[in-house]
Amino acid sequence: MALWGGRFEQGVAEVTQEFGASLPVDKALYRQDIAGSKAHAAMLAAQGIISHEDERAIREGLEGIEADIDAGTFVFDINDEDIHMAVESELTRRIGEAGGRLHTGRSRNDQVATDTRLAAKALARDLMQANLGLRRALLVEADKAGATVLPGMTHLQHAQPVLLSHHLLAYVWMFTRDFGRLRSAFDASDASPLGAAALAGTTYPLDRRMTAETLGFSSVIDNSLDAVSDRDFLLDLEYACAVMAVHLSRLSEEIVLWSSQEFGFITLSDSYSTGSSIMPQKKNPDFAELIRGKTGRVVGDLTQLLVTLKGLPLAYNKDMQEDKEGALDAAHTLMQCLSVMTGMVSTWTVHADRMRAVMHRGHLAATDVADYLAKRGMPFREAHAVVGHLVLEAEKRGCDISELPFEAFQEASELFRRDITGALDIDAIVAARTTEGGTAPSAVADQFKRAQARYLVD
Ligand code: ARG
Repeated sequence: MALWGGRFEQGVAEVTQEFGASLPVDKALYRQDIAGSKAHAAMLAAQGIISHEDERAIREGLEGIEADIDAGTFVFDINDEDIHMAVESELTRRIGEAGGRLHTGRSRNDQVATDTRLAAKALARDLMQANLGLRRALLVEADKAGATVLPGMTHLQHAQPVLLSHHLLAYVWMFTRDFGRLRSAFDASDASPLGAAALAGTTYPLDRRMTAETLGFSSVIDNSLDAVSDRDFLLDLEYACAVMAVHLSRLSEEIVLWSSQEFGFITLSDSYSTGSSIMPQKKNPDFAELIRGKTGRVVGDLTQLLVTLKGLPLAYNKDMQEDKEGALDAAHTLMQCLSVMTGMVSTWTVHADRMRAVMHRGHLAATDVADYLAKRGMPFREAHAVVGHLVLEAEKRGCDISELPFEAFQEASELFRRDITGALDIDAIVAARTTEGGTAPSAVADQFKRAQARYLVD
């Protein structure tokens, strides 16, 4: 008979046993569940609601159960439905009557919210750590990149040259914002629902601040209905995961492109590549693709919880039991993706010469040639048209704008002088973009310092 079986004359239908159980998922939260129970029991004793002997028996019993689960010797029974009842019924088996006093002034509704919040905090903290690891790896790569340039793109077409370090720092900033999102998910989880009981609070003189403090929560949740039905903190965590996964996916896509024969910008290390079972020559960027693929899963997890919560009346509803699987999956999946990405970028080989070699394709200097004319008095719109014609001319000759003879420039406009070569030089083009946040080495050096400083304070 289930712990709640008193008012029932029959057991549940067999098909509903597995269907209704969350144990396969929430047994992962046993540490949080036991910590929550120990804190609750200690508070009950401090408030004179249970005796100190009972509290001691409960504490020792729970510690024994925790040790057994740690050791893998604890036998879970699906009939216990969830981790809360699995632990409590085993506790009562072990210590008798005192075990039955543990649930005084408590409900599984505030219990599960407590466990889940504790787990969310731990997951957010681990992910923040992993996020820092990746940022560090990218900062190291950005630093190593030195003066390496590559074609900056829009629409995947050559646009303007940029420093490789600038390109990598763009990702560092994305992951820096992701860190902030994780931190706010942590903060959203950091309040204690314990003491809200089923939905309305209880008649026992509970000290909610005491349990909150024991469990490391910064505050207690103000409203008992909200305490048992709020899952925003999981949405926040899953959203933070989803956005970070999307950022990882974009980086993965670039890794897939860059490691292709067409680009040839990087070679992945053997340890982050796979071969083909039929084509002996293949070296595939499987893991970058897999990160890109797993992003769908993480986004799906967020969507699932949003849809699950939509339309739920206050307070607890069993639908909410569907909250944990996706959240754990999103966090665990992202954790793996972060470690794989960190290893992949730290071990790739960058082909600066190849990046340089493709610079004379796609007329990367065109904007600077137009700026050259505009700075000599021609309205920019007109300059744009003049350079458009020069590009067309170069296309007809099958060369890059930077390879046109000086006469072609002279023909296009008399404003062109010999010094036009300065506007055609890739390094000069890069060096001229000194805007704050621009790609000039001096601006990138400043940016690097700011990104590193943020890394160091996070
Ligand atoms: N297993 C449940 C969950 O994960 C715990 C809370 C159940 N409460 C209840 N009244 N059925 O949400």
